[in-house]
Amino acid sequence: MLTRPILVAYASRHHGTEEMATEIAAALREAGFSVDLRAAAEVSTTEPYGAVVVGSAVYLTEWERPALELIQRERDVLAGRRVWLFSSGPVGDGRATRHPESVPQPAVVDRLADEIGVRGRAMFGGRVDPRQDSFAMEIMAQAGLAGDWRDLPRVRGWALEIASALRADAPLSRQDRDDRPGMEEGLHAKIGHLAGRPAGRRAAHRHGCGRARRS
Ligand SMILES: Cc1cc2nc3c(=O)[nH]c(=O)nc-3n(C[C@H](O)[C@H](O)[C@H](O)COP(=O)(O)O)c2cc1C
Repeated sequence: MLTRPILVAYASRHHGTEEMATEIAAALREAGFSVDLRAAAEVSTTEPYGAVVVGSAVYLTEWERPALELIQRERDVLAGRRVWLFSSGPVGDGRATRHPESVPQPAVVDRLADEIGVRGRAMFGGRVDPRQDSFAMEIMAQAGLAGDWRDLPRVRGWALEIASALRADAPLSRQDRDDRPGMEEGLHAKIGHLAGRPAGRRAAHRHGCGRARRS
């Protein structure tokens, strides 16, 4: 298991993306990880984290500035972390909301993601909520685009994929390695046999007994 916490950071004008980030954080916590959930604008450093998930709403084909600035500013640190990015964008009934995964990420996000070497990027549907006190949402609603296409179960499924990837990635601790009989031991047994040495000797040495005498 990852020893450092996971950061889930988001940029959201009307809370839709914030709720998705909350869902991701909850799924990762349920999977046993320690998670910090923060607005991207509040993150000063990504240094303490072992893995980072950053998400943003898409407005006029671009990510929100705090999320973009976060990955731009932290790109050197993020290049050494396990990073996943997600966007919340497409709204209205149509192909884009039926298959949001086919909608491209903003070009700048894709470029930065390639530069950092992110583990995954996802595009989810968005939400236009006329109850939000917002002129932009009102205009979208008047254009017949009110609705919620975020698919929170898919968002949760994506978070669980992250959890599985992190578990699969986690290097075994020294204790785990030493306690685990495996290929290495079988190999040493074979080599020992070929060299005319007792097979168990090397394994005993690895467990701290039968140490070679110092001359
Ligand atoms: C003015 C405006 C412009 C938008 N532009 C885009 C866009 O270019 N591409 C897109 O996929 N979604 C666009 N959307 C949809 C938003 O990304 C969607 O509503 C999102 O869920 C909002 O997230 P938030 O509630 O976290 O702010 C736009 C929405 C508004 C209100």
